[in-house]
Amino acid sequence: MGLNEDLVSLFHENRGRFLSGEELAGKLAVSRTTIWNHIRVLKKLGYQFTAHTHVGYKLVAVPDRLLPQEISFRLKTRFLGRIIHWHDEVASTNDIALELAAKGSPEGTAVVAENQSKGRGRFGRNWFSPHGKNLILSLVLRPSFAPGRVSQLGITTAVSAAACLRDLFELPALIKWPNDICIRGKKTGGILTELSAELDRIHHAVVGIGLNLNIEKEEIPTKLRPHCTSVRIETGKKCDRIEVAARLLNELEQRYRCLLREGFSPIIDEWMDLSLTLGRRIEALSEGRKLTGYPTGLDEDGGLLIRLDSGITKKISGGDITILSVAGKN
Ligand code: BTN
Repeated sequence: MGLNEDLVSLFHENRGRFLSGEELAGKLAVSRTTIWNHIRVLKKLGYQFTAHTHVGYKLVAVPDRLLPQEISFRLKTRFLGRIIHWHDEVASTNDIALELAAKGSPEGTAVVAENQSKGRGRFGRNWFSPHGKNLILSLVLRPSFAPGRVSQLGITTAVSAAACLRDLFELPALIKWPNDICIRGKKTGGILTELSAELDRIHHAVVGIGLNLNIEKEEIPTKLRPHCTSVRIETGKKCDRIEVAARLLNELEQRYRCLLREGFSPIIDEWMDLSLTLGRRIEALSEGRKLTGYPTGLDEDGGLLIRLDSGITKKISGGDITILSVAGKN
């Protein structure tokens, strides 16, 4: 027997109160035995109920999994996350989302997983995330703009993720160009955008987001420990991954729609306020040459504008930067 999403919604809508088998059966137009069987399925997934004879069931806890019905319940979006594919483990959620997109899945389709065996980051790096601890999410997007604008998607997503961590946890989340989400200078999240396109047209893009939420210090590989952090490490408290997933989808849809409607300028404005990079001396590699200077902003393609020591402003479009000075924002 599959999961009954309407039953889950009924329990959520009536959180804190008992619902009798009869009431549930009536509302869902099924037998009481069917309700009982559905509740057994939910219990197996980790839902917890208090049950009293003649009174019924009260939902007391939902499992710590990124279950679609739990995320959906909190969505205010029109299309982002309206279809969610959940997996316990996959090689990479970006792979699944790319396959779904190629088969015609609608814009906004989301893939979430508790674990990835081959999670990947930018430049073919690994993305490490222990089972059931963080947010691993990939989204199918079909923006009607030229492939040259693709980095706008990653930057829009980074702005949404930083806003989400700030609003939910009052954390000083900032963005290190292009898409790293950092707290107090340590990486908390990354974004990998992959594309299927022709010269002048995007067929589909997949935006993959990894956010370190509940991973603890000891679980981070020793080599990465000085450079990475998580919401749990920063707040000292376990966070609700479902709440973060839903909030991120809500925040991102608003900004994505703004990007399509008004262009990149409003996103650049937000990025400027959230940038860890601006005002700091940085080093970048561009076309094999080392450049040092001070970033002054973003251009229309999402490239970073740097005022070099020679006074010339240069744009870098790809690669990573190293922050040399530590003064200013944290
Ligand atoms: C980076 O900072 O290098 C980007 C990391 C992106 C990781 C996410 S996790 C969800 C999606 N699936 C992947 O394999 N990668 C992205």
